[in-house]
Amino acid sequence: MLCGANLFFSISTTMPSETFKKDGHTIHWGDVVEVLSSKVEDESVSLIFADPPYNIGKKFSEFHDKWNSNEEYIEWCCQWILLCIRKLKANGSMYLMTSTEAMPYLDIFISKHLKVLSRIVWHYDSSGVQAKKYYGSLYEPILFCVKSETDYVFNADAIKVEARTGAIRRLIDYRKKVPTAYSSKKVPGNVWTIPRVRYRMDEYEEHPSQKPESLLERIILASSNIGDVVLDPFAGSFTTAAVARKLNRHSISIESQEAYLKTGLRRVGITDNYKGEYLRKMPKPYIRKNGKSS
Ligand SMILES: C[S@@+](CC[C@H](N)C(=O)[O-])C[C@H]1O[C@@H](n2cnc3c(N)ncnc32)[C@H](O)[C@@H]1O
Repeated sequence: MLCGANLFFSISTTMPSETFKKDGHTIHWGDVVEVLSSKVEDESVSLIFADPPYNIGKKFSEFHDKWNSNEEYIEWCCQWILLCIRKLKANGSMYLMTSTEAMPYLDIFISKHLKVLSRIVWHYDSSGVQAKKYYGSLYEPILFCVKSETDYVFNADAIKVEARTGAIRRLIDYRKKVPTAYSSKKVPGNVWTIPRVRYRMDEYEEHPSQKPESLLERIILASSNIGDVVLDPFAGSFTTAAVARKLNRHSISIESQEAYLKTGLRRVGITDNYKGEYLRKMPKPYIRKNGKSS
């Protein structure tokens, strides 16, 4: 059975563990289960954005994203999901990503503990290898869950987008008591078309799974308020904390890989010096794979 009731919380003792803090932003370099178990206070966090490794064989610096079986991967996810839920305030929200294959299992599991309010599709165009014998994947699923269905933060006005229907054609809604022009703004639906981060974009960092700032902006604006604490248990390139800082929220980030810790220390403004190394964003030479510069 996947994610049985008696989850065993195994804590790795071989991973490094160090904490860095500045101006309301904390970075824990270490293992997610260990850090959540011992270093983050229960019910202290307003918003969690969890974007774990997907068990698809990616290389994250020294970490190889492949479990022995799908069952082991799901069991591991259930461990840190339960810990995340413990860290959420009573009115807190959690956004959870994983692969399209694993999401149904995590959806069933998390639905026992939180209310899933939206099943979001992050849709993007692909410039990668095109599938020829099946339909290639052009999306990643995101669950939006809350602890309390009746008490949670949702700043609808902060995330409104252009309504592409009636307002554009200047239509009048005659179903209303007093006929009114269609509103030109609306809360986005559950399909979000946002381009992936490309090498040429200013926000690009050296990380194989960097999420776009605009994705995190929408999530943080909608589901937290100024001064709230946003937790990212798999910080990667530290998009969540960087956007949280820009939007005047506080942040807690966890990351196991030292290479990405260095990105985080710089991107979140904690320090630009780590073990004597000056942390700067590497300049991009704009050389194409064929060797030509553009
Ligand atoms: C999918 S990436 C996150 C990407 C991130 N959302 C971003 O925008 O860059 C997952 C991250 O989890 C880290 N990771 C893997 N295992 C971990 C563990 N046990 N504890 C903490 N971090 C871990 C990986 O090094 C990787 O950077």
